[in-house]
Amino acid sequence: MKTTTQILMGSLLALGATMASAQVAQVKVWAAACANCHGTNGYAEPGHESLAGKDKADLVQKMLDFKTGRKPATLMHQISKGYSDEQIHEIAAYFAAQPKKQ
Ligand code: HEC
Repeated sequence: MKTTTQILMGSLLALGATMASAQVAQVKVWAAACANCHGTNGYAEPGHESLAGKDKADLVQKMLDFKTGRKPATLMHQISKGYSDEQIHEIAAYFAAQPKKQ
């Protein structure tokens, strides 16, 4: 027979898994906002900057530099302002985790 602790632990684990997948879904929605210009999952058409498989720290730095105006841009200084630093970290991790195109 299961003890209350075991049942509680099981529900907590299930809750954790649900929250983790909700977070993945959320970051995909943010990343989809970049797809028009940087391609689906960061695989851009020629002439646009691919984000897939790029170094996470580098992506974060560029986004933060756009946000503060340190890095000159035609568009990204405006787009980057729409995201918190935490969101930028999550979006960068998402693109960095995409396998590089051969
Ligand atoms: C409307 C088109 C557009 C959208 C949408 C867009 N970008 Fe960009 N992105 C650009 C352009 C154009 C540049 C080149 C810099 C500039 O002129 O703004 C760029 C450059 C970048 C760079 C620097 C690339 C490098 O290696 O120099 C990063 C990183 C980046 N974008 C991330 C993102 C992320 C993340 C999103 C979604 C949250 C996004 N972009 C959405 C157009 C876009």
